[in-house]
Amino acid sequence: MKTKSIWGNPPKRLYKLMKIAEKDFGEKYTACIVGCSDGKFLLPFARKKLRVTGYDIDDIALYGGQKSFPIVNEKNKYQYNKNFKSQEYELVKKRVLGITERLEIEKLSNYALIEKRDFYRNVPEKTFDVVFTSCSLHYTANKDFSLEDKTKKLQSIVSVGGYLYIDYMMAIEEEDYILYPKEKFYRKGEILNYFDDNWRIVSCKENNFPSFEGAHVDCVKDHFHRFGYLLAKRIK
Ligand SMILES: C[S@@+](CC[C@H](N)C(=O)[O-])C[C@H]1O[C@@H](n2cnc3c(N)ncnc32)[C@H](O)[C@@H]1O
Repeated sequence: MKTKSIWGNPPKRLYKLMKIAEKDFGEKYTACIVGCSDGKFLLPFARKKLRVTGYDIDDIALYGGQKSFPIVNEKNKYQYNKNFKSQEYELVKKRVLGITERLEIEKLSNYALIEKRDFYRNVPEKTFDVVFTSCSLHYTANKDFSLEDKTKKLQSIVSVGGYLYIDYMMAIEEEDYILYPKEKFYRKGEILNYFDDNWRIVSCKENNFPSFEGAHVDCVKDHFHRFGYLLAKRIK
């Protein structure tokens, strides 16, 4: 039985990355998702019977439990405005599946190693062919580390010849270090400074404008994000 992530379906870019990796490594490569949550980005690897490791610090995302969801009766979309104030939504608690439960239901537990680990505080001494993280760097749990440090910690677990994919949050107001602290939000082009000549940047896309996101689990107010996306290959 196929299960669903509370974060929706994985985007096309994940499958594109899997195709690139398959071209380089064939059908047997290792992958690691840093901040795997309930498995949105991890299950696709396990479904392909690849050995995949996932790290997260959120007990409910790992093992299942109750999460609060906003009750949104009418979906609205807003334009970005610095002084935007979200309406308050009522919340409802729902039981959600954790990644370990999803893997069990889909009979995929044998392909995945799921560990409760604070990755940026406790970097594993292992490397993988593909390392993927989506929006984990800006978490308050990681505010004691600079973005350079966190980016380099991710790089350290990529095998030579392997790929690092990062979806990251950028400052919506580049000069505002109060709302967008430098430890959490990248500035334009900043991430490229943290890749030395051991790396080839395959692609890097940074949005110039923020995109609207309606209230959702774990962020129960309407809000805006500005995203960056980077794929790099470790060449030495
Ligand atoms: C935004 S969620 C990923 C959500 C979803 N997969 C998506 O992007 O649509 C990021 C995850 O990273 C995890 N995370 C943040 N800091 C972490 C750390 N230091 N070690 C491990 N996981 C971390 C969070 O607990 C959270 O589950």
